[in-house]
Amino acid sequence: MVHMHLTSIVIAIILFFVSASMQTGSKGQKVTHMILRVFYILILITGGMVFSTAMAGNMAMQYGIKLVGGLLVIGMMEMVLVSKEKGKSNGVLWTLLIVFLVFTIYMGFHLPLGLKFW
Ligand code: HEM
Repeated sequence: MVHMHLTSIVIAIILFFVSASMQTGSKGQKVTHMILRVFYILILITGGMVFSTAMAGNMAMQYGIKLVGGLLVIGMMEMVLVSKEKGKSNGVLWTLLIVFLVFTIYMGFHLPLGLKFW
């Protein structure tokens, strides 16, 4: 399940950057954003399932922080794309997205089920 989570995240990140780089209002941009929203749900389901089986134990706090980080990343991705679609400036949202994304990926790999890079 943790691998399905990782696969969903990789696809979602690619879709996010493709959608963010496309012209506002174009069909491609709307379609990639719609597919990205399906992947949010997959990330939530797979992450939630891993969370519910793995969080009990002495790392519960870190699992909780990872969950909040994941939710913030999804929230920021959505806010960046919606603000772009509305033509608003979104520099702050991009910065927050990158910060939360780096943190959440670090936490994901740092926790015991993830691949070990740290
Ligand atoms: C877009 C947002 C998210 C990103 C970028 C992200 C990133 C990651 C990464 C990179 C891993 C390691 C996977 C592996 O090594 O195979 C991971 C694991 C995990 N994620 Fe997420 N995640 C996100 C959202 C969520 C959400 C919303 C939840 C909870 C509902 C969640 C819960 C978990 C759990 C429980 C693990 C397993 C940790 C472990 O024991 O190793 N994630 N995540």
